Amino acid sequence: MLGIETSCDETAAAVVRSGQRVRSNVIASQIALHQTHGGVVPELAARGHVKAIIPVVEAALAEAGIGRKEIDAIAMTQGPGLAGSLLVGVNVAKALAYVLDRPLIAVNHLEAHIYANWLTLPDAPPVAPPAFPLVCLLVSGGHTELILMSGHGQYQHLGRTLDDAAGEAFDKGARLLGLGYPGGPAIERAAANGRSERFELPRAWLGDRYDFSFSGLKTALLRLVEPYRLPDRGPAPVAAAGPFVVHRAPSFAAELPVADLAAGYQAAVVEVLAVKSARAAREFGARALLLAGGVAANAALRRRIREEVTTVCGEPAIPVRYPPLELCTDNAAMVAGAGYFALRRGAQVGWEADVYPRLPLVPDEGVTLGGME
Ligand code: KG4
Ligand code: ZN
Repeated sequence: MLGIETSCDETAAAVVRSGQRVRSNVIASQIALHQTHGGVVPELAARGHVKAIIPVVEAALAEAGIGRKEIDAIAMTQGPGLAGSLLVGVNVAKALAYVLDRPLIAVNHLEAHIYANWLTLPDAPPVAPPAFPLVCLLVSGGHTELILMSGHGQYQHLGRTLDDAAGEAFDKGARLLGLGYPGGPAIERAAANGRSERFELPRAWLGDRYDFSFSGLKTALLRLVEPYRLPDRGPAPVAAAGPFVVHRAPSFAAELPVADLAAGYQAAVVEVLAVKSARAAREFGARALLLAGGVAANAALRRRIREEVTTVCGEPAIPVRYPPLELCTDNAAMVAGAGYFALRRGAQVGWEADVYPRLPLVPDEGVTLGGME
């Protein structure tokens, strides 16, 4: 199965066997293209995909050691994502499927993140697939959802964010602290030497609900940062530092306690995610708790969830699983993986397949798909 992913700012193609074994996983990142803007610029992203997609597909085939004819099916991300970006991947996938006369499978990007948990990297030993029912915490730049999965392709929403996504909270927090984009890794690095208890930051528990809210936390961080800010200096200078851009220092009057603030902020996001996920795992008798999405790369989240599951669910412990680090953030191996299981359910699509920028994981009444018409 060849997977193609172009929903946001990564151009990716991958070859995966039987929904599990990654044969190749090629990602052309556009981070450098967007970092001076502090976020993804849709027009730049679409143009970047057009330039990168063919070489990326060729590289994925070469790395897997197969020719085009050996591709047995093609899976593409259909949504959610940026319309112009999605269109690039969908059209390349259609062209390949047409020329090679192979099945075309449309994959939901959120489902793909979940199926990253079924993947094993080329050198890794095989692992048993996760057992159902399972609870999945999907935390990315655009989504924060708690999902009950009772079988392949069977999802029930337990909760979702009412405002910012967890990854968005990390990105916005990083901006307030003068750290770079993407914010999650930047906050995680800054927090490594910080004392999380130094500053009091709020947690939105929302009673017994499994929903989340991170906008109050962001405002609380803003209040803590404000006293350090100089009033009338222009925008902070931008300096490149490795893969990150650092917007910082001179706009602050005194030394901003970045490490302690980052640690406190990260702890607040992570605690709510961990407590609610563990409670859901117990309530719904989950046989595994899966993490998925870019924020699942966060080591503090992984650690806290394991602790919480042990405390709340007791022994024998429910396994907490997460994809290998490089398969947490956007990639095409997860698209090929999800595509394999979708094809087994007969989910093939025709040439009329469109992109859906707001495609939900579970079709709810009244939710528009955000089609192009
Ligand atoms: O899944 P993803 O690659 O793209 C979306 O589908 O949104 O997730 C990207 C998000 C970004 O918000 C980024 O800041 C966050 O995942 N992220 C992290 C970490 N690595 C990526 N957040 C916290 N800790 C990390 N280590
Ligand atoms: Zn994603």
